[in-house]
Amino acid sequence: MNGKKLHCGIIGAGRIGRVHAETLAFRMPESQLVAIADPNCEAARAVAARCNIPKVAASPSEIIADPEIDAVLICSPTGTHADLIVQAARAGKHIFCEKPISFSLAAIDAALAAVKEAGVLLQIGFNRRFDANFMRVRHAIASGEIGTPNLLHIISRDPAPPPLSYIRASGGIFLDMTIHDFDMVRFLVGDEVEEIYTAGGVMVDPAIGEAGDLDTALILLRFRNGVIGTIDNSRKAVYGYDQRVEVFGSKGKIATENIYPNRAVVSTGQAIYTDLPLNFFMERYTESFVLELQSFIQAVIDQRPAPVSGIDGRIPVAMALAARKSYDEHRPVLLEEISGEKSLTDHS
Ligand SMILES: NC(=O)c1ccc[n+]([C@@H]2O[C@H](COP(=O)([O-])OP(=O)(O)OC[C@H]3O[C@@H](n4cnc5c(N)ncnc54)[C@H](O)[C@@H]3O)[C@@H](O)[C@H]2O)c1
Repeated sequence: MNGKKLHCGIIGAGRIGRVHAETLAFRMPESQLVAIADPNCEAARAVAARCNIPKVAASPSEIIADPEIDAVLICSPTGTHADLIVQAARAGKHIFCEKPISFSLAAIDAALAAVKEAGVLLQIGFNRRFDANFMRVRHAIASGEIGTPNLLHIISRDPAPPPLSYIRASGGIFLDMTIHDFDMVRFLVGDEVEEIYTAGGVMVDPAIGEAGDLDTALILLRFRNGVIGTIDNSRKAVYGYDQRVEVFGSKGKIATENIYPNRAVVSTGQAIYTDLPLNFFMERYTESFVLELQSFIQAVIDQRPAPVSGIDGRIPVAMALAARKSYDEHRPVLLEEISGEKSLTDHS
C-alpha cells in the first residue's frame, strides 16, 4: 500500500464504473483513484475527466500491471469478471468485483482459489446490504425484535429494462437482477435457502423473450430454518424503481417503503398524490454504494475480512441457476441439485 491512502484502479467505465469512480473521487478521502480502463476509450476519458483520474487505459491488463495500484474495482461486463479476478489476484491486487462473479460455478471456484492463494482481499458488490432500510430490517430479525421470522417478501422491480445488448451479455434476469434479491434474502434471514420454485414470463418486451430471457418472475423460496419467502421481479414498473421488503414474524413485522425525492403531498379536487420514487439504482442506492466502498477500503487498510465475501458471491449464483432450472423444468429445485452445492461453504 502507498502510505495511508489506498490507490485504486477501475476496470470498466459504464453505468456502475462511473458510479464507483464518482464515489471514490468525491466521497472517499481514504482512497486515490489513479487509473481507469475501458476498451471504449471515449467512455474512459469522459469518466477520467469528470473525476480527475490521471491515467486512462484501453485494457484492464494495464491497470492490473500498474505497480502504483493497490486495489482494482472490476466494473466491466459479467462475462469478464472471473478471469480478471484471477489476473488481479496473481498480481497481488485487492479486488472489489461487481455482481455476479460469473455465470458458472466452476469459474467462480477458480477465481476464489486464486484469491485464496494470493492472500488478497475480495469483496463482491452486493451494495444493498449497506442500505439503511435493509440494515434496519436485518437488525429487527437478528435482535429478535419481530420474534421468529416466518414469511419474507421482496418486491424488486426496475423502472425500465436495460438495452438488449446488455441483456444478451447479462446471463439473464436471475443472474443479473434477481441476484441482488438472492443476496438480500440470505442477508436478512441469516440462513440459507434450500429450495426454489419459479414462475416467470415475458410481459414487458417480446424482444427480451426472443433473446432467451424473461422479464417478469415470482420466485418462492424455502429456507433451511423454515422461513418461506417470495421475490417479485419485473424489468419495468411504470411508476419507477420499486424496492420494498416485508418480513413477518411471531412478534410482529417490519416493512420498508420506496424512497422519494421529497415528502410533499399534493391534494387537489381530483386526487391526492406525491412525486414518483427515486428513479433507479444510481439515485436510490447512492449512500449504499458509498458505504460498501468505505467498508472495502477500510477492510483492506485494517487487514480485516471483506464484509461481503467470495462465498457470498457464489451462493446467489447457485440460487440463480436453480431459479432458471425451476422455470425450465416447471418444478421446485433443491439447491443441492445445482452442481457444486456440497462445497457452497468451502471457501468461507
Ligand atoms: N451493484 C449494482 O447495483 C450494479 C448496477 C449495474 C451493473 N452492475 C454490474 O456491473 C457490471 C457492469 O454493468 P454496467 O451496467 O456498468 O454495464 P455497461 O454496459 O454500462 O458498462 C460496461 C463497460 O465495460 C466496458 N468493457 C467491456 N469489456 C471490458 C473489458 N474487458 N475491460 C474493461 N472494460 C470493459 C464497456 O465498454 C462498458 O463501458 C455488470 O457485471 C453488472 O451486473 C452492478
